Amino acid sequence: MEEHLTVGRVAELAGVSVRTLHHYDEIGLVHPSARTASGYRAYSPDDVERLREVLAYRRLGFGLREVADLVDDPNTDAVAHLHRLRGLLVEQRDRAAATVTAIDRELEARAMGIRTTPEEQLKVFGAQLYESIGSAYPATRRTEPRIAARIWEALGDARTVLNVGAGTGSYEPQDREVTAVEPSAVMRAQRPAGAAPCVAASAERLPFSDQSFDAAMAVSTVHHWPDPIAGLRELKRVARRVVVFTYDASTTGWLQRFWLTRDYLPEFADLLVGWPSLADMAHAIGGRAEPVLIPWDCADGFFEAHWRRPEAYLDDHVRRAVSVWTRVGPQAEQRAVNMLRDGLSSGRWAECNRDLVALDAAELGLRLLVA
Ligand SMILES: C[S@@+](CC[C@H](N)C(=O)[O-])C[C@H]1O[C@@H](n2cnc3c(N)ncnc32)[C@H](O)[C@@H]1O
Repeated sequence: MEEHLTVGRVAELAGVSVRTLHHYDEIGLVHPSARTASGYRAYSPDDVERLREVLAYRRLGFGLREVADLVDDPNTDAVAHLHRLRGLLVEQRDRAAATVTAIDRELEARAMGIRTTPEEQLKVFGAQLYESIGSAYPATRRTEPRIAARIWEALGDARTVLNVGAGTGSYEPQDREVTAVEPSAVMRAQRPAGAAPCVAASAERLPFSDQSFDAAMAVSTVHHWPDPIAGLRELKRVARRVVVFTYDASTTGWLQRFWLTRDYLPEFADLLVGWPSLADMAHAIGGRAEPVLIPWDCADGFFEAHWRRPEAYLDDHVRRAVSVWTRVGPQAEQRAVNMLRDGLSSGRWAECNRDLVALDAAELGLRLLVA
């Protein structure tokens, strides 16, 4: 009993009310395993450990039900919880720091009587997203050779190539003269030694004169641009040929196309509000769209890459390198992951997706726009 802490002491240490602790006990979230001689709730070291996890997930904004799912997950031990909590908190801290910087800049500008443009005001949600999540990118994001072959073929005989939204340099051809454009300092810093020179700029305002490159390419990036159509027009302005690898959200039934969005993460739909149609994007560069099937063993871990390897989505590293999971928010993410884990162990996922096992490549709406 000496190791136990009374409910009053726990409340004092944790900075929560005794009432909150009673409530957690009543709903079975943190049940103190003992009582003092006078009948007060008493918390063992294990109870305190569970309470610490509960409070940390609550602080991150999870609802009580999601917290219960998280702390009851039999596949996650205390160390795994600490790693996950640490990752989520670092991400939240970095995002907050980026937002504070943006607010400071705006305050400075206003103090000098300058009004920031709508584009500047939205920046914090665009490129700055990569200031906070970019460090997780290289873990699973790399060049998929079959998609690279399609992009490089579409570049034709271009000798000088501008890669816009270049990130860490995936898909940059080695045999041509490449110039990269990347607004996120975190991403620029992760470009490997010897990678093409990289300019800090955004697609919507490229610091190059008209037709100064043989070709411009943009891979898995257009959906991050505050103004995709303006950015695509810029690509067309600075290069004779344009190659864009992107996603078609305009066909009806796209939500149904991929089991992950259909059955587990319908919140994906919210991210596509205001997204230009494929026809509008093709029109902006004066080009055509070709479907790109995703191989079952796709090496680049983008959102759809693991369509035939569903267990991959249970891995934090896989999710952290894909902005969709950050954008839908931690609650939707955790719910989707919990449901998928249940679906995989109960056999429901296999039952609903039995056709996929026979496929070597899937059509999930990825497109190459070529002009
Ligand atoms: C998913 S990553 C793709 C990186 C790389 N093209 C690849 O295929 O690995 C998206 C990149 O777009 C960049 N980005 C965001 N907003 C941008 C903008 N307005 N103009 C250009 N790039 C932007 C991000 O900083 C990030 O590096």
